[in-house]
Amino acid sequence: RHVSIDAVYYFHTRAIAVWGISEDIHSLIHAGVDGIITSNPEKAVTAFGEYPENTIIQRPIVVAHRGVPSLAPENTMAGYYLSYELGADLIETDIQQTKDGHIIVMHDTTVDRTTDGTGAVADLTLEEIKELDAGSYFGKEFAGEKVPTFREFLEGFKDKDVVLLVELKAVDIEEQVLQEIMDVGVEDKVVLQSFNIESVEKFREISPHLSVGYLYSASVPGSPEERIQEAEQMLNYATSIGARLNASYNSLSEESIKYMRQRGLINMHWTFRDQEPFRDLLKKGLIGPITDYTQWLTDGPTYIETPINKRNLKVGKTATINAKTFVNYRTKHKENAETTLYVHDGQPYVNVDRNKITAIAPGTASVFAIHTFNMLEEDWNLVSEPIEINVRE
Ligand code: G3P
Ligand code: CA
Repeated sequence: RHVSIDAVYYFHTRAIAVWGISEDIHSLIHAGVDGIITSNPEKAVTAFGEYPENTIIQRPIVVAHRGVPSLAPENTMAGYYLSYELGADLIETDIQQTKDGHIIVMHDTTVDRTTDGTGAVADLTLEEIKELDAGSYFGKEFAGEKVPTFREFLEGFKDKDVVLLVELKAVDIEEQVLQEIMDVGVEDKVVLQSFNIESVEKFREISPHLSVGYLYSASVPGSPEERIQEAEQMLNYATSIGARLNASYNSLSEESIKYMRQRGLINMHWTFRDQEPFRDLLKKGLIGPITDYTQWLTDGPTYIETPINKRNLKVGKTATINAKTFVNYRTKHKENAETTLYVHDGQPYVNVDRNKITAIAPGTASVFAIHTFNMLEEDWNLVSEPIEINVRE
């Protein structure tokens, strides 16, 4: 009763896994749960087997890395707002401390690469940093864009339905960061991460209610057994420090992704700039990609809905089904979708042809609506919940 697409989305964007308890397997699958608890596991396995090849139930959530640096200057409000408009589910940001103790948003330890100034952030005051142009290096249309303070970043998204993935790039700022998050009142929409294990541990101590990820890279072991063994060790480590494991994507294997998800650990992985590994790891069950190319995912639909979930049909009669797709997790806006129908091989009750069902013989068939779309240069089948077709004489 408590599991819905919206609820699972809320938890996933905060790096929390959801397992559903129900005998209605298809509705749990469509809500996007990570695990199913059922008294009839055989029925669940059969339900999964009814779906066509290359099924995708929902578009994966996507984290906009430093905003959308493929389209706008990184770590600027212009870039963050653009990633939000594109439909990013989380926005990643890097934070540092100025000479006079203010928290500002910037990736590098110096302002050289992303502004028209020079020098270390730690050697410049906020006033000096605010004089800099953080947009011109990217393009004339962004001239005059300022380096945001952390507070400006938080305020900018306080009333927007998006989660903020905040990465600490400086040490000993955890309490100040937490204070700013609390002052702005966005504790329910911030998740934290750091390469610095001491920062991770500090956050577990001062803010155990906030999700915190440990950032790292590692080589992938050679054999499947070693990969599982490594995943087990990493999961034990994550559990001991109460953190997510936000590994670089080239640290991942199919075994490690599966191992973490089966045990309820949701991690975010970075930084996808090439389509091939992106596509490959999504197929292996990756959740939470962090990318410079938010638009590669958000151009696609999020999920598909049919106008009915049950229909009676007399032998020889036909019905036409046209599904709609949701364009974004945030809005309930839907669009008509080119629909084809699919029914598992071997059932004798209906025939399907494009979006038309013809009743053949008495009995009950499960018919799925499919919308095929291209994402990361590959076709994916977005599949609806089954429609129960009861055929009568
Ligand atoms: O989100 C993780 C990723 O941003 C870590 O690398 O260097 O881009 O901050 P970096
Ligand atoms: Ca970062």
